Amino acid sequence: MQSATRVSKLKPYFFAHLSKRVQALLEKGRDVIRLDVGSPDLPPADFIIEAMAQSARQPNTHGYTAYGGTPAYRKAVAHYYGQRFGVELNWRTQIVGLIGSKEGLFTIGQAVLNPGDVSLVPDPAYATYSISSEIAGAEVYPLPLLEENGFLPDLDIIPADILSRAKILWLNYPNNPTGAIAPIEFFVKAVAFAKQHNLIIAHDAPYVDICYDRYDAPSILQVPGAFDVAVEFNSLSKVYNMAGWRLGMAVGNPEVVGYIESYKSQADTSHFEPILAGGIAALTGDQAWVQDRNQIYQSRRDVVVAGLRAMGLKLLEPQAALYAWARLPDGVEGYDFCARLLEDTGVSVTPGAVFGEYGKEFLRISICIPQARLEEGMARMVHWMQGNL
Ligand SMILES: Cc1ncc(COP(=O)(O)O)c(C=O)c1O
Repeated sequence: MQSATRVSKLKPYFFAHLSKRVQALLEKGRDVIRLDVGSPDLPPADFIIEAMAQSARQPNTHGYTAYGGTPAYRKAVAHYYGQRFGVELNWRTQIVGLIGSKEGLFTIGQAVLNPGDVSLVPDPAYATYSISSEIAGAEVYPLPLLEENGFLPDLDIIPADILSRAKILWLNYPNNPTGAIAPIEFFVKAVAFAKQHNLIIAHDAPYVDICYDRYDAPSILQVPGAFDVAVEFNSLSKVYNMAGWRLGMAVGNPEVVGYIESYKSQADTSHFEPILAGGIAALTGDQAWVQDRNQIYQSRRDVVVAGLRAMGLKLLEPQAALYAWARLPDGVEGYDFCARLLEDTGVSVTPGAVFGEYGKEFLRISICIPQARLEEGMARMVHWMQGNL
């Protein structure tokens, strides 16, 4: 059987390959500590689970629901954006519900890009931005995220001939994998730049409410005029510990939201109503537990930062998201380093190269495991590094 070219061109997914190696170690009886994936280990608040369970017990909540989220879910998203960012959204035209934000990030590429268009994609980045663009036939132009620029792209150095063909600019703050944050001034600049060059901004913001040290991440939609050019992708996966529930949203520019909705109505049908009920409870209910949960992450972050520094690695302390991004020792190849680390210590971390060419000199550590295990993992890494220097 022959696959389509667009499928045969896909590179193997790194985390699928890694899971096989981890499984092989587990079968040999090894104690593996996974610091590689960003799936929250803690549950959502009880009132969210209760709302879902109550809805599931009703006889009339098991059929198809409205395409792109029920009015009640869209109104809950509007409520959240109003309360959290002071951003007013029209629930009919500026919001569409997603089956997790990844689904929307893939869909926007199919909905707005034509073959020959250029897609401006940060490097390193979450893989879906470039995959979505390539599958749509667009050309990916990488925007290096450099430490000296605070891991923000330098929009001013994009060549004019690229800009004339560019259709979409992807951004993601708080950032995966670098843990970097963007000041609102950067978003102001990005919005003006997008208007000047006729670009759509796809801002991916699933970590917007996972912040530390009293940092409060902005939404790009807080920038005056952002609605003319920007769509923001948001998710209940990370902020509300609901990654497996598959619930997210695209909000902002009504035309682009409409294109996403139109593509989605052909590709999928709807959400399960009890999932939406849980999502509505999460978005409109008491948000205090999110802050308490962030304290747990903050203390894990401190363990990781201290451990990486004890290994002699350099990194900026992340103020948001679920990752630490540390520079590898000079001349060390990341895939080899991480493979040896896993083999020797049972600790699994992600080579930065997985996220792009400009990630090659880094490794990423995720903080989605209980603190005692994290401490054990970091202790093994520090010990291993001492023996390998
Ligand atoms: C930057 C970024 N965007 C999107 C996603 C996808 O999240 P969701 O579960 O909402 O599909 C992830 C998940 O790791 C992510 O890190």
